[in-house]
This record gives sequence, C-alpha cells and structure tokens, in this order.
Amino acid sequence: MTDQLIAPPTVEAPPASWWRNAVIYQIYPRSFADSNGDGIGDLPGISRRLPYLRDLGVDAVWLSPFYASPQADAGYDVSDYRTVDPIFGTVADAEELITGAHALGLRVIVDLVPNHSSDQHDWFKRAIAEGPGSPFRDRYHFRPGQGADGELPPNDWPSIFGGPAWTRVEDGEWYLHLFAPEQPDFNWEHPAVRDEFKTILRFWLDLGVDGFRVDVAHGMVKEAGLPDIGDTGEWHLLGAGESPFFDRDGVHEIYRDWRRILDEYPGERIAVAEAWAPTLARVANYVRGDELHQAFNFSYLGTAWNAHEQRAIIDESLAAMREVGAPTTWTLSNHDVVRHTTRLMQKVEGDAAGRKATAVDDEAGLRRGRAASALMLALPGSAYVYQGEELGLPEVIDLPPEARQDPAFHRATGQDGYRDGCRVPIPWSGAEAPYGFGPDGGGSWLPQPESWARLSVAAQAGVPGSTLELYRAALAIRRDNPALAPTDNLTWVSAPAGILAFDRSAPGVPGFRCTVNMGAEPVEIGRPGEILLASGPLEGDPDNIILPPDTTVWWSVAR
Ligand code: GLC
Ligand code: CA
Repeated sequence: MTDQLIAPPTVEAPPASWWRNAVIYQIYPRSFADSNGDGIGDLPGISRRLPYLRDLGVDAVWLSPFYASPQADAGYDVSDYRTVDPIFGTVADAEELITGAHALGLRVIVDLVPNHSSDQHDWFKRAIAEGPGSPFRDRYHFRPGQGADGELPPNDWPSIFGGPAWTRVEDGEWYLHLFAPEQPDFNWEHPAVRDEFKTILRFWLDLGVDGFRVDVAHGMVKEAGLPDIGDTGEWHLLGAGESPFFDRDGVHEIYRDWRRILDEYPGERIAVAEAWAPTLARVANYVRGDELHQAFNFSYLGTAWNAHEQRAIIDESLAAMREVGAPTTWTLSNHDVVRHTTRLMQKVEGDAAGRKATAVDDEAGLRRGRAASALMLALPGSAYVYQGEELGLPEVIDLPPEARQDPAFHRATGQDGYRDGCRVPIPWSGAEAPYGFGPDGGGSWLPQPESWARLSVAAQAGVPGSTLELYRAALAIRRDNPALAPTDNLTWVSAPAGILAFDRSAPGVPGFRCTVNMGAEPVEIGRPGEILLASGPLEGDPDNIILPPDTTVWWSVAR
C-alpha cells in the first residue's frame, strides 16, 4: 500500500520518435508552386499544394531557405534570419503554411544557414562601413593580405564555388567566404554569433516549426590561425579529407547547445545536419545522443549503381549510425546534385554525385531511377525525397547559359557547377509551360522542357504504373507494413550475382523482402512471396518470376 502511495503519478508515454523512420520531402520553394505569377515559387503556393503532399504520404516537409536574401545563392545567402523574403511571402504566410501542414498531419522543417550570412546582412554591412577595427569585423573573418602591399589572400583556401575563398574590400582587408563572395563566413568564436543563432532557433521554434536542416553543418568552426591547406588541386565537398575549415571537432559543442534548446520544446523538434565529413564514422559524430538527430547520408547518394557497392554502403551506413543510436538516412536527390534518374546512368569519372550532367537515355534512366527509389524507400531509417523525383523528372541538361543562375556556374570550375538543372520548376498540369507551376502566362524562373507535359502531376495521378503512383504505393506500404517500422532490421538474403536482396522482419508480423536487379541481364528468382510492389514490368510466370535489369520488387514473405 505504502509503495503505491509513493509511486510516481502515471506519466504519459513519450511520443514515438516520428523522425526515426520519417519520409521527409524537400521543397525547393522557388521551384515548387507560384501563387502570384511572377515565375518564382512562394509560400502561399506551397500552402495550396499541401494536400498533394498529404496524399503522396510523406511525414514531413523540409523547405530550403525562404528568408530575406539578395538571392546570390538562391536564398542560401540570408540577410535577415527572422523574416521572409518578399518574393516568397511574409512571416504570416510562413505561419499559415506551418499551421496548414500541421492540420494535415505534416511536420515542417526549415533550413538554417549558420556558416555564413549574406553580404547584405546588417552586421556585414556595418563591418564594411565602419572599416578596419570595427567590432563587426570580428563577427566575420577579416584579415590583412599577404605580399608587400597585402595584395595576396591571407591563406590558400579555395571557395567551394571556384576561385579563392577570400575577397578584398576597398580599405585593403580581406574577408573569408567558403562559398560565393556574397556569403561571408561568420566567426563562430564570437559569442554574439553563438547567441544570435540561439535566438534564431527560438524564433522559428516559437512559430511552430518541427525542426531544422542545418546548412554546411560541418563548416562553422575553423582551425585557429586559419592555416594553409597546401596545394590539393580542385576541392570537393564530397569525400573531402581533413581540412582546417571542415569537420573540426569544435562544431560539436554548438550542436550540444542547440540540442538543449530543441529539447526544451514539446513534440520532438529535430535537426538534420548537412555535414560532408570524410567518413561515415565522422558523420555519426553529428548525431550522437546529445547532438543533432539525423545527418544526410551523402556517401550513399554518391554510390554507383552496382550490387556490390550498394550492399557495402548500406551495411556501412547502418553500422556507423548504430554506434551512436541514430537512425540512418537515405537520399538520392536534392537541390545540389544531378537528379538520380539521370545521375545513376551516367559514367562520371571520380565523382558519383554527378556534378556535370551528361545526356542519358531518358527511358532507361527512369527505369533505373524508379528501381533506386523503391530500394531506398525499403531501407530502414529515414528517407529524403526531393520534389519532382516522385514524378521521375530527369535532370535538365540543356539550359541556356543565360538562363542559369547558380553562382558556381558563373564562377567556372568550382564544385556544384551545374545545379540549375535539378531546380527547374515542377510541372503540375496542362500541355504548356508553366504547366500549372503558376498562373497561365506567368512563366517560370528557369525554362521547363517541352517534354514535361507528360510528366506533370495531372498526367500521372491515377495512372497505373506512373512514377507518381509508384511513390504513393511505396509510401503507403512503408507506412502500414509493421515490418518496415523498425529502423535497424535489415538482413541480407543470398542472391545471384547482380541481385541485391534483403529481408526486414519484426516479431509477430509477416516478413518483407526487397529484391533489386542491378545487373545487365534478366534473372530468374522463383517466387519469394506475394508481390507488394514492382518498380517496372516483370517477366516469366507467377511461380518463376524473371526480374529484368533495373527493377525492384517488394514482397510479403511467409515467416
Ligand atoms: C549547401 C546548400 C547549397 C548552398 C551551400 C552554401 O551546400 O545545400 O545549396 O549553395 O550550402 O550555403
Ligand atoms: Ca511567386
């Protein structure tokens, strides 16, 4: 009796961790839906399309930046972190979007760009206006140059977008920008910078967002003294080795601070790191129990389409995240890389992430892209879907140079030089551009190919076998099938060469199997179970199925 009296009151069970196996849909606001006909997507446009995303079956959306910005890098150059750029709408529109999404059961993740601001941010403008010695210069990295007259950059760091990472201002000092000159890097050793971002986090959390995608999450802390890197030739984010400006251990202190803030809010607010660390073990550091929740798996994104390498990277990813108790994430496409329907067909030397798109056979690319999507969505953990991949959009490789807006394109040979081709606005309906992206006659900030009429949402909705219906079916199965709920339950099944096969099982429920043919020849696979989903047509007969190349099948298997 006494025991019962002093027993703690019944507490509500903690909410299930929604993010551990969530499907998160990336919206690139300027290319999603344009409500006012200026050719640029906006927040009211997104709000109107939310029912589409609910019907697609995703759990959350992640919005690329929509904050006040001169748009030197499509919004990744923020001049005011607490307001919405007029091209995208207002803070009230953002609130409406968040409330509208929540009403449909969708969570909202917003982008946070802490490595650098815009050169039009108040702090940077004051740093420039006040000249050398201004306290605002300490909030960025200003340095005198080298050489007799300071005419040489302070060190040899390259910008990711090409050219040196330093720009000289009129009074002779130089400032650091790992990206475009319009994106000066913050000095994260300065307490004002740290405090500022804590209040920015709270601003958006108070407005109701469910989390943040942290841009260049590996970049904020620089090695003291900003030492030279030595001549390493062309610098790439992906597969970058050790460097004095990326993946320094000091960044983790920032994330421990942020985690405490996120945890103060109800409902499991999360953060996902865009951290291009050299190994998956280094990536796992960002998602230790007291840091961020997820990190993008760029090693998986960059892996070529063959059974041996895919199996290895899947194993490695699961093992690395298991070490720290975080779920693995899977991404095939985003706004920085060649769309996977094109990329997975390309032979790109030394760079599987595919920065330079080349022409591929569209039909073959789509077949492989669909097989890859069905594989990704069958893997345990959280999956990121980039807008338009559910329509099977290919990379647009023939944009005229005058239409291109990616700063990297204009800075010549830097990383990511060709990112406009994955940012072409979404075709929603109709026979002519802008295909319902905005009002008729409104146009689109990048031209849409003529062939996109047949790829529009309206052209695919309800059409059996369409890519859109494949995604809808896959997401519905993923949500309802209890074998797919656990986030670390993958068991490989032995299979003929070129075939990747794995099971996912959970106690007391029917088994699930995924079989993928990554080889060049059709393969007889018998009949492992009842077909739940196929990414393309199958051959053979029901008891001896022949799996064509670049095809994925999901099965329900007897236990
Ligand atoms: C990230 C973004 C990319 C942007 C860069 C600089 O890599 O994904 O689009 O250009 O950071 O902010
Ligand atoms: Ca608009």
